[in-house]
Order: sequence, then C-alpha cells, then structure tokens
Amino acid sequence: MNYLFKNGTVATESGPINASLKVCDEKISELGLDLNENDCHVVDCTGLILFPGGVDVHTHMDLKVGTNRAVDDFYSGTVAAAFGGTTTIVDHIAFGPKGCAPSVPIHEYHSLAKDKAVIDYGFHGVLQDADDDHLNELAELKEQGISSFKIYLTYDGRLDDEKAFKVLQKAHELDLVIPVHCENHGSLTLLRQQFIEQGLTSPLYHALSRPNECEAEAVHRYLTLARMANDAPAYIVHLSTRQGLEKIRLARREGQTNIVAETCPQYLCLDQSRYQQPDGLKFVMSPPLRQKEDCQALWEGLADGSIQTVATDHCPFHYAQKKELGEHDFTKCPNGAPGVEERFTLIYSEGVHKGRLSLERFVSVISANPARAFGLYPQKGALTPGSDADIVLFDPNVTHKLTHSALHSKCDYSAYEGFEVTGKVLQVMSRGRWVVRDDQMMANPGDGKFLRRSTHVELH
Ligand code: URP
Ligand code: ZN
Repeated sequence: MNYLFKNGTVATESGPINASLKVCDEKISELGLDLNENDCHVVDCTGLILFPGGVDVHTHMDLKVGTNRAVDDFYSGTVAAAFGGTTTIVDHIAFGPKGCAPSVPIHEYHSLAKDKAVIDYGFHGVLQDADDDHLNELAELKEQGISSFKIYLTYDGRLDDEKAFKVLQKAHELDLVIPVHCENHGSLTLLRQQFIEQGLTSPLYHALSRPNECEAEAVHRYLTLARMANDAPAYIVHLSTRQGLEKIRLARREGQTNIVAETCPQYLCLDQSRYQQPDGLKFVMSPPLRQKEDCQALWEGLADGSIQTVATDHCPFHYAQKKELGEHDFTKCPNGAPGVEERFTLIYSEGVHKGRLSLERFVSVISANPARAFGLYPQKGALTPGSDADIVLFDPNVTHKLTHSALHSKCDYSAYEGFEVTGKVLQVMSRGRWVVRDDQMMANPGDGKFLRRSTHVELH
C-alpha cells in the first residue's frame, strides 16, 4: 500500500520542513514538494507534525526479578509504546540463571517477544560475569543482531572493576556498546542496612540510601575503565544526577570520545518530594528521583548535547504490589515504574512546548540518537527515503491531562497522573502499516519484528 502525507510539517534534526512524504510498502520512498499522488492513499496532515517514530532503547518488558514480574509483557508493553508514539524498543532483558551463558536469556526473550510485539524490537544482551567462555560468545551474538550488552555495577549479578574492565576490553575489540547501570554498590548497601536498623523504612529512605555521589562515583569509575580499555564504547543508562553529568563532561573534556549518556522522563519531570506523598512507593526505582536542581541540570545537558538520548526504563509493577511488599520496608518494594507511553508527549510538552528543547533536538533525543547509539540508524529514527515508514502524526496544539485511565500499560497507575501536557499523538504507522488509528490498535500480536542491529554510529 502507498501513502502520500501532505500539508504537514516534517520534523527533522535540521529543522521543520513543509514537504510531502511518500510511503511505498514498508519504506519512505520520497520527501519533497509536489509529489505524484497516483496510486497513493492521501493523508491530509494540515496543522500536524510528522515525526519519525519514537525509539525507546530502555524498556523491561516481562522482566522477572526475584519473585516479581513486571506487569507488561511484549504485547501490552508494545501496545502502550505504540499509542504513545514509539515504534521501536530495545529491551533490557533479565539475568538468566546464575552462571549461564549470555545466549541463554536472549533465547528466552525471543520466545517472550516473538508472537506478542506489535512494534519492532531488539534486545540488549546482559553480562552477569566475564568468563572467557561467555565473552567468546559475543562475536556470534553480534552476528545475530545483538550489538550491545548491559552490565550492572550494583544488584546481584553486578560486575566488579576487574570484570567490567575485561568486558570493556572485549567491547573495544568487537565494537560492542556496553550500557551500564552506575551506582556504588558498597555504599548503598550499607546505607540501606543502617536505615532499616534505625527503623527508617519509608520510601524517602530509598532515595536517601542512594545519594547523588553514589551515581557520580560509579559513572566516573566506569568511564575511567572504558578509557583505559582504549576508549571502548560506553553508554550510561538512566543518568539522574547533576554530579554524574559533570563526570561525563569531565571525561569528554579529557578527550574520551566514545561516551553516550541517556536520561529518562522521570529524572527530568519528577523529583524527590514524591517520596513524601502518601503514594510515595509508586516512585521507588533505581536510581531514585532527585532534587529539582538535578532535573534542571539534566534538561540543560539534554539541550547542550551532553546527554544524547531519552529512554524510559519502563519497568512497571502494580502500586498494589509495591504497597503489599514495601509498605513497611522500602527495601522490599519492587524497583521500577511505567512510562513507555508517556515519554514522547511528555518530553515534547515539557521540552519543546516549554522552550527547554528545540524541535530538532527533540527529534535527536527521542528517535534519531537512540537509533544511532544501538545500530538502527537510518532504518529507524529518520524520515528519509529508504528508512522504515515509522511515522507519528502529532497535533502540537492540543492540551490535555495525562491520566492512567487513558493509557494502555497494564500497570495500575501512571507516575505522571494529572500532568497537563500540550501535544498529542494522533496516528502511528509502523513499516507502512497503521498501528494506531482513531484511538484504535490496528496491529496484531506478532506484527512487530525482531531487529538485527548493526554497530553504533556517531550521535548528534
Ligand atoms: O528501578 C529500576 N530502574 N528497575 C529496573 C531495573 C534497572 O535498574 O534498570
Ligand atoms: Zn532499566
């Protein structure tokens, strides 16, 4: 089927352009003025912006942690993503059984996602140790389209400095990206224990047990290891602090080039005061929410290019479950919150509408850069001839309230309940097929395809 989108504004990283966009089958075929309408369904986009579909490179669909399981699987999670204007996810998969090879959880996730996803998806591998046998699997996994492998500096399954360094050496050799969760494990473990011993069990102590320095120290240490591994490709996930951002800027000033920093809507739009609300457990996530000054610093970092991507860390657990487990002890509350559907509109509204981000920068951080960082560009993240026809029709003038009842995650709350936003995702196309039209889900489970990712390219 061919489509011609006319009379709209096409959002690109070099600015908005008034042009028509033609889609032939799964691809964008032309961008220009006066395109031939023959054999095309014409879509009148008067008053609308056409964006490249959002690319969310940090989700946790169907994540199993201990005895808890995130409530969105690859169906409900990708439905929520699509309604929110995201047409690609790259999921951070769960650890496999202790001691297993990296291919084991990847294999499991193929079966979790295959017949369920409604949009295209990829996986980051995960490394829970650095055994030679396991690292020797990475070249083959890269061939299979897994070109990034996450490591954690905290949690069970974390890597110590020696192992992290070994992984980074391998990453340099194979040109793999290593996304990393940066928190200083020793200090947060002791602080948690001390608070609990003192009877300080409320959600605020979740945040106080993971101070800003806890992130900044781990960011600095990790970047130092990456630099020693010949500037291996380092990707900092969910950056939440001004101090962490300063460490990234410092590393770049000192000549390190291969660093990508990601932040999330929650660290831009929510702050630590949420933990003192009666429903504070909803916001228990790691890293925790910070102070307003941190949010401000992150917005500035996003605008000036220090931070290059916004992803969600979508990891929803019902509030009911968080309360049941964490009401008397924050350490028992499952970590994580929903957000995959809210990201696009929220960052447009809080960023572009409020004057913190240009439209061009929004395209970069929401779509193009995440695609570049993980080997998907320009197949994803761009509205250029040859790219997949992943298109969001967006009305920049509608003002509405974000509310859980209008969202599609299975989670029983939204962390952004009541946020007044300007801008609305109206229709969404993925590879030339309507996925969301007139508030209806048009895709079937399994329509989303696994993306074999190639290697990262330079970001904007
Ligand atoms: O609290 C969070 N973010 N849970 C998901 C796992 C992780 O640390 O990214
Ligand atoms: Zn995560």
